[in-house]
Amino acid sequence: MAILVTGGAGFIGSHTCVELQNAGYEVVVLDNLCNSSEKALDRVKAITGKDVSFYKGDILDRDILNQIFKEQKIESCIHFAGLKAVGESVQKPWEYYYNNISGTLTLVDVMRENGCKNIIFSSSATVYGDPAQIPITEECPKGQCTNPYGWTKSMLEQVLSDIQKADSEWNVILLRYFNPIGAHKSGTMGENPNGIPNNLMPYVTQVAVGKLKELGVFGDDYNTPDGTGVRDYIHVVDLAVGHVKALKKIEEKAGLCIYNLGTGHGYSVLDIVKNFEEANGVKIPYVIKGRRAGDIATCYCDPTKAERELGWRAQYGIREMCEDSWRWQKNNPNGYEE
Ligand code: NAD
Ligand code: WQD
Repeated sequence: MAILVTGGAGFIGSHTCVELQNAGYEVVVLDNLCNSSEKALDRVKAITGKDVSFYKGDILDRDILNQIFKEQKIESCIHFAGLKAVGESVQKPWEYYYNNISGTLTLVDVMRENGCKNIIFSSSATVYGDPAQIPITEECPKGQCTNPYGWTKSMLEQVLSDIQKADSEWNVILLRYFNPIGAHKSGTMGENPNGIPNNLMPYVTQVAVGKLKELGVFGDDYNTPDGTGVRDYIHVVDLAVGHVKALKKIEEKAGLCIYNLGTGHGYSVLDIVKNFEEANGVKIPYVIKGRRAGDIATCYCDPTKAERELGWRAQYGIREMCEDSWRWQKNNPNGYEE
C-alpha cells in the first residue's frame, strides 16, 4: 500500500517523503511543479535510496487522479498541494480559491470514488486569526483571516470536517502548522522560494548568502518583549515526522482530529536574527521598518494534544533550525536551480 502525497515536491512535502520512506511507506507524489522542482524528488531518492513514483499533474485534473488510483494501491493521502503566498492571494483571490478549494474538492471526490477515505490536510495557524488566547490550543476558536489564502485553509477545514461528519468511513486529520523553517541535515533539501522571499527565515538566509542587502524588520512596537513579532518556529523535519505519526493515527481509525504542530516556544524576529548569527557566525544587517499589514504580535501554540494523542513532539531547537536553514542556503545559493 502506498501514500499519495500531493504537493510532494514542495518544501514540507519533500521532507515528508523522506520521513515516510524512512518509516517504510511507499510514496506516490502528484505535483504540478508550479512552486517546486522535480529535483527535490531526486534529492529525496538520494537520501533514502528508495524510489518515488512521480506524476506531474494537477489536483484539479480528475483524469490524472483516476490514473493514479488505477495504477497505485493508495491507502491514504497527505494533501500539501496548494498555493500559499499570503500577499499574492490578496492580489489573486480567484486563483487561490479555485486552486486550493476546487482542487481539494476534486481530490476528495476522486478519492471517495476510488474507495480511499483517509486524508491528512495541511492547515495553518493562520486559521486562528488574531488568536483569542496564547498559547493557542486546538479548542481556541477559529478567527477572522486577514487574506484569501488563510480563508482557503479555514474553509477547507470546514469542508473536510463536514464530509467526515456525513460519512464516518472518512478519517480526516487537520494539521495546523505554525512557522516551518530549517532544512534536511544533509543540506541537499530545503525551502526554495520564487523571487524575493516573503517569509522571515528565507529572507535571513538570502541576506546571509549576499543575495539581499539587509533584512527589514516589520515593526518594533508590538506588545512583545522586544517589540518585534513573536512566532512558533518549527523544524521542517519535525513537521514531517508529525505526518508519519498522523498516518499511524489514521490507521487506528481517527475519525476527525485536529492538531497544532509547533514547538510551543515563541521567538521574536530579533531572537531569530541573534540565534542565526550565533549559530552560523554570519552577520545579518537589519533595519526596522513599519508593521506589515495583517501581521499579529504573537502566535505560538500549546502542542500537548499532539504529544498526548500522536506521541509526537518537536525534537529540534532554534539553533538547529538556524544551522540547517543556513547549510541548505550556503550549499545551494540558487535553490534547486544549478
Ligand atoms: P510549497 O509551495 O513548497 O509546496 C506546495 C506544493 O504544491 C508545490 O510543490 C506546488 O508545486 C504544489 N501545487 C500547488 N498547487 C497545485 C495543484 N493545483 N496541483 C498539484 N500541485 C500543486 O509549500 P509548503 O511550504 O511545502 O506548504 C505545503 C502545504 O502546507 C501548503 O498547503 C501550505 O499552504 C501549507 N502550509 C505551509 C506553511 C508554511 O509556512 N510553509 C504553513 C502552514 C501551512
Ligand atoms: C514571521 C515574522 C513578520 C519577513 C506566514 C503566513 C502563515 C503561515 C506561515 C502558511 C513576522 C516578520 C518577516 C521579513 C520580518 N503560512 N518578518 N521581515 O507571517 O508568521 O506566517 O507563514 O500557512 O499563514 O502568514 O511568517 O515568516 O512571514 O513572518 O520582520 O522580511 O517575521 O512580521 O513577525 P508569518 P513570516
